Amino acid sequence: MQLDVFTLVPQAFAWLTEQRPLASVLGGELDLRLLNYRDFTPLRSGQVDDEPYGGGAGMVLRVDVAAAALDAVYGGVPEHRVVALTPQGRPLDQQIVEELAAEERLTLLSARYEGFDERILVHLCSDAISIGPYVLSGGELAAMVLVDAVARLLPGATGSEESTRVESFSAELEGGLEYPHYTRPAEFRGWHVPEVLLSGHHAQIDGWRRDQSRLRSAG
Ligand SMILES: C[S@@+](CC[C@H](N)C(=O)[O-])C[C@H]1O[C@@H](n2cnc3c(N)ncnc32)[C@H](O)[C@@H]1O
Repeated sequence: MQLDVFTLVPQAFAWLTEQRPLASVLGGELDLRLLNYRDFTPLRSGQVDDEPYGGGAGMVLRVDVAAAALDAVYGGVPEHRVVALTPQGRPLDQQIVEELAAEERLTLLSARYEGFDERILVHLCSDAISIGPYVLSGGELAAMVLVDAVARLLPGATGSEESTRVESFSAELEGGLEYPHYTRPAEFRGWHVPEVLLSGHHAQIDGWRRDQSRLRSAG
């Protein structure tokens, strides 16, 4: 997958790109480009934003700057999906993540300050996605959430394919929550691991896990 992120703070992604599973797929299944709007702006002194028409606080990312960035990289508005990260977008969930992970090319646009000139969302983007009903200072954290969630679904991202096939929100668990996990010691301060997990009886363990998953998902 070719995944491009337009941002004013590309260095913010340094930590994420060093972590697995992202690091495992970088340069292989994932080609991640971090692109700074300032490198493409047609305005002087690296200007990318401006005051809002009608007045009010904050600065707004300019449409001509975003368009120039897309033109420079793709020769126009790309035919593949261009996702704006905004608190006003469609709430992110695992279904959207799976949908995006199946794309061959994907572009994310993040903003800062007051956000995007509305024309960016209407004319340059195919999707607007929110990572939750709260306001962050910038789209970098939101983009990183999306990049991480998508990258871990790419082939070879995790040690075992089962870890992403059977997990919360997966079809394997009927879209529900994952069952509880336990590891050694089997008893700690009188807190015991459920007996069935120590039984070695795979069918019973599987049944117990599915029951637990359904119980948790029912709320
Ligand atoms: C301070 S926010 C702008 C908020 C905007 N003025 C509003 O009230 O809807 C700056 C940028 O951070 C990003 N951002 C903030 N919260 C977000 C969220 N919940 N999901 C996705 N992106 C978010 C977006 O890129 C946004 O344009």
